[in-house]
Amino acid sequence: MKRLLMLVCGLLCLHGVKAEDYFVRTKNSVMVLSGEKGSRLNFVYYGPAATLDEIRATGNGLWWNAYPAFGTHCTAEHALLVQQADGDNALELVLDQVREYREGPAQVTEFQLKDRVHPLRVAVRYKAIPDVDVIKVSTTITNDARKPVTLQRFASAYLPVKSNELWLSYLVGGWGAECQLVEEPLHRGRKVVGNHDGARTSFVTHPSFMVSRGEPDEQRGFVIGGTLLWTGNYELSFLRESNESVLEIVAGINPEASDYRLASKESFETPELVLTCSTEGKGGVSRNLHRWGRQYQIIGGTQPRDILLNSWEGVYFDVNQEGMERMMKEFSEIGGELFVMDDGWFGEKYPRNNGSTSLGDWTVCREKLPQGIGGLVDAAKKYGIKFGIWIEPEMTNAKSELYEKHPDWVLRQPDREPVMGRGGTQLMLDMSNPAVQDHVFNVVDRLMQENPDIYYMKWDANFSIENAASLYLPKEKQSHLYIEYHRGLQKTLQRIRAKYPDLVIQLCASGGGRMSYAYFPYFNECWTSDNTDALQRLYIQWGVSQYYPSNVMAAHVSASPNHQTGRVTPLKFRFDVAMTGRLGMEMKPSDLSAEEREFAKRAIATYKDIRPVVQQGDLYRLISPYDKKHYVSLMYVTPEKDRAVYFLYRTQFIRSIPAESRVLQGLDPDRNYLFRELNPERPDKKGPLDGKVISGRVLMEQGFYLELNKELTSAVYELIAQ
Ligand code: GLA
Repeated sequence: MKRLLMLVCGLLCLHGVKAEDYFVRTKNSVMVLSGEKGSRLNFVYYGPAATLDEIRATGNGLWWNAYPAFGTHCTAEHALLVQQADGDNALELVLDQVREYREGPAQVTEFQLKDRVHPLRVAVRYKAIPDVDVIKVSTTITNDARKPVTLQRFASAYLPVKSNELWLSYLVGGWGAECQLVEEPLHRGRKVVGNHDGARTSFVTHPSFMVSRGEPDEQRGFVIGGTLLWTGNYELSFLRESNESVLEIVAGINPEASDYRLASKESFETPELVLTCSTEGKGGVSRNLHRWGRQYQIIGGTQPRDILLNSWEGVYFDVNQEGMERMMKEFSEIGGELFVMDDGWFGEKYPRNNGSTSLGDWTVCREKLPQGIGGLVDAAKKYGIKFGIWIEPEMTNAKSELYEKHPDWVLRQPDREPVMGRGGTQLMLDMSNPAVQDHVFNVVDRLMQENPDIYYMKWDANFSIENAASLYLPKEKQSHLYIEYHRGLQKTLQRIRAKYPDLVIQLCASGGGRMSYAYFPYFNECWTSDNTDALQRLYIQWGVSQYYPSNVMAAHVSASPNHQTGRVTPLKFRFDVAMTGRLGMEMKPSDLSAEEREFAKRAIATYKDIRPVVQQGDLYRLISPYDKKHYVSLMYVTPEKDRAVYFLYRTQFIRSIPAESRVLQGLDPDRNYLFRELNPERPDKKGPLDGKVISGRVLMEQGFYLELNKELTSAVYELIAQ
């Protein structure tokens, strides 16, 4: 018993009375908070590892309210706004106790705050994952009053940052142009990056940000990075008040139209905000997030990813057994590993021939596929590749058997005509309704029960919550819809994952509309964009790489001229761009000439060889497309620094541009590297660097000269430490 008590005390350390400083440490960073029982909890510092004496001596500390609530001191930004049953909305949070404990890989410091007047408790948690330099921040709000209260703001995290020259980097985009990188100085006033789509969390902006001290740089300077783990609407707000050299960052679920009624004794758990920081510029922050993502957040994040062919741009809705089989055969002949049948395979009463019918009716269309899914799985086996299938399970069409049976399952106002999406008929199912959750689970379960050899699913979501009302939730809980939808979705995804942990599932929402870390415990990868144009992909993928690692970034070689932009690009350029992510194809291989097919076969074999470096290596971004230097360049290096892959693209050719040396990063200065050209146009025609051996030091200090003298050409080299 005594031993047990000692063990419990060892695992769970309780603090209580006196003023104390608390250090939340990772390998290279530290966060400091300070407080005493009955007083305000202060946030002191977040940055590179430093002692408290150093923080004091340098003036880098803040002693700022760590989780400000509305009502008292309300001139500052607030993280929490709670209205009591009697209408009072003031709070003054003070520290009650501090708990320190372990949770998986994380060391947790939890500050339990309470209001001086109302029986309301707030636990603010900082979870340090030391090896990847990540700290996750979240909050639990508990209503101990006898009556319900209403949460009007309920941020996951509040982070004050000291400095007077800060820049914000974030991603913004839309269909076909996702993840455009925006970088701007944070002037005085409030800047909000948010989402109201309801379903597609990253449609338009992403729930991720970087804040740099001074103009953002890839290699140098102090940068904080953050990403919110919430699949629904979010809000990231950045406020600089007039005289203060403090930036207040507030991150959490978007409170707009989401007042949350918290019953007596009920707790509200906010999503986590993931924070990291680096003194190696934006590149350092990206690498931290990539490492954390692969190791701790993305399902199967350290497993190799297959090279796949998706049928969409090859045949669109024109699905049939013969056409699918032909693509499988041709793809397997050039070394492909997985075939995915996209939209158009389902619907018995209403065959899915375009975007206006059948969603919800997830039974095979026998007219198109008389041998069913089984026939396709067998064909894939015959050609020695795996099989995958497209679904969009959260949706239905007004013209579908599902809607005829369950008109009350869709999101809509009871007394208005619903707004309809794609095809003029698409509707969203109400994921707050447990019956709908069962239906969505069953879509996957039934397919898997009937065809256990399905290896991969592409899970799409092509509509927003445009009818923001639930026929399931009671009247007083309508404002919970945006939250309950996602709780229902996550619950369903957890059920699917509990039963099918090995199924590979791709996240898709009209392209990259849901790319967000909150989804990655359930989804192995993301369809980056419906825009497969290689030149535009350089921009999109550059944006993706700010936060997400290459192995979640699905990048497919498609036909030329490109279907979205009409641009004609050489096949080598298309492969060289797609090979920086999870390589795939999105076309009929038979549309390639015999010579092109030979090239594709060699490129696929090459990718298999460099797959561990690209999918698991550290990314160094070298020349940004946004710098308009007519070149784009990046490289991946293994953590051991024994292999690297270097990519260089010429995006525009204007003769007057002077040559510049190509300076590399991330190598071992004390090792020599052998250059091996990959993907040459012809195997017998290698570029000037092939076979050369150069030291890491020279490559990183002086670099080398390598010019590409035509627009839309590229060069790829592997560097092997000798
Ligand atoms: C969305 C996806 C595409 C494709 C189509 C099918 O637009 O982004 O990749 O799957 O749906 O209808």
